[in-house]
Amino acid sequence: MAGLIERYRDRLPFGPDDPVVSLQEGSTPLVYACHISERVGAQVWLKIEGANPTGSFKDRGMTCAVSAAVREGASAVICASTGNTAASAAAYAARAGLRGAVIVPEGKIATGKLAQALMHGARVIALRGNFDQALELVRELAQRHPIALVNSVNPFRLEGQKTAAFEILEEIGTIDALCIPVGNAGNITAYWKGFQEWEPGGALPQMRGFQAAGAAPLVHGAPVERPETVASAIRIGNPARWEEAIAAMRDSRGGVEAVTDEQILDAYRFLASQEGVFCEPASAASVAGLLAYGAPEGAERIVCVLTGHGLKDPQTALEQAGSVIPCEADLASVERAIYDGS
Ligand code: F0G
Repeated sequence: MAGLIERYRDRLPFGPDDPVVSLQEGSTPLVYACHISERVGAQVWLKIEGANPTGSFKDRGMTCAVSAAVREGASAVICASTGNTAASAAAYAARAGLRGAVIVPEGKIATGKLAQALMHGARVIALRGNFDQALELVRELAQRHPIALVNSVNPFRLEGQKTAAFEILEEIGTIDALCIPVGNAGNITAYWKGFQEWEPGGALPQMRGFQAAGAAPLVHGAPVERPETVASAIRIGNPARWEEAIAAMRDSRGGVEAVTDEQILDAYRFLASQEGVFCEPASAASVAGLLAYGAPEGAERIVCVLTGHGLKDPQTALEQAGSVIPCEADLASVERAIYDGS
C-alpha cells in the first residue's frame, strides 16, 4: 500500500517531484464495533489509528511535516510532545537523515513512546514542566534557530491528518458524527478540514470532541493551568488549535464534552475485552464520550477515532487488567489454572 502523500497527492501541497519521507502510513482499518453499536443504538465504526507505523495518527501529519522540512532544506526537527508526536517525529527524522529533538514533560509520558523516541535516536529532553510549557519553549526555539517545528501548529501536520477523513468517506461514505479525543486540538481541526474538502457541498458529520475532565480547557472555556489525567497523551491545558477546534464543532453542530478518568478507563477495558481492540487511554476518550453522552439525536452512522495503540502504555494496561496466574509445571496444576483460575 502506498503512503498517504502518494495516495492523496492531488489533495496535498506536494508536487510530483517533491521529496517524500514515508513509512507507508495511513490506510488504517475502519472496524465495525458490534457491542458499542448495540449500546448506543447506532452503527459505530472504529478508526484504528494505532495501526500506523509508529502506532499513532501522528504519522499522517509527520510524513507531510518532515517531507516539507526536507524540501525546505532543514537539517533538524523539533517538537514538544506528550509522547506520540515525539515517537513519530523521531522515526521520520531518522528515516530522512535529520537530527531530531523532542521535549516531553518529565515522568508524564507512557513508556512505549519514550522507548520509541530514544530508539530512533532523537535527543529526548525531559522538561520539569508540562506540555503547554514545552510547546511555548519550542515555538521560541524554532524562531531563533534553523530547526523545523513539527508540532500541529505546523500546517503540514494538519494536511496529512486530514487524510483520515478522506479514508472514512472513501470506505463507508458519509457519516453523521465523528467522536474524537481532543488535546492540542490539531486532529479535530484536521478531520474537519478533510471532511469539508472531500466533496464541495457534501454532507458533513457533527464533530464531537472529548477531553479528559482534569484537562478540559475547551469545555470550561478557559486554560487549565495544571492539567491532570490518566490519559497522559491529552494532558494539555492550553490547546494551540483552540479557535479552529471550537469553529469546527460549532460549524458542524457538534460540541465538546468532558469524560472522567473512570469513564475513560471503563471504555479502554471495554474496547479491549469486548471489541478486541487495544488502544491507549487517551484514545478511549472518544468511545467513553459516546457511551456517556449517547449518539447525537438522529445520528445513525458514527465513527470513533482511536488515536493510538494500547502497547504505547503498557503500565496503565497492567494496572487495569487482570493478573497472571502463577502455576507449577505439571498438567494438573495447568488444568486447575485454566479451568478454575487458581
Ligand atoms: N490521542 C492521542 C493518542 C494523542 O497522542 C493525542 C495528542 C491526542 C489524542 C490529541 O490530539 O492534540 O491533535 O488534539 N498527542 C500530542 C503528542 C499532543 O504530543 O503526542 P490533538
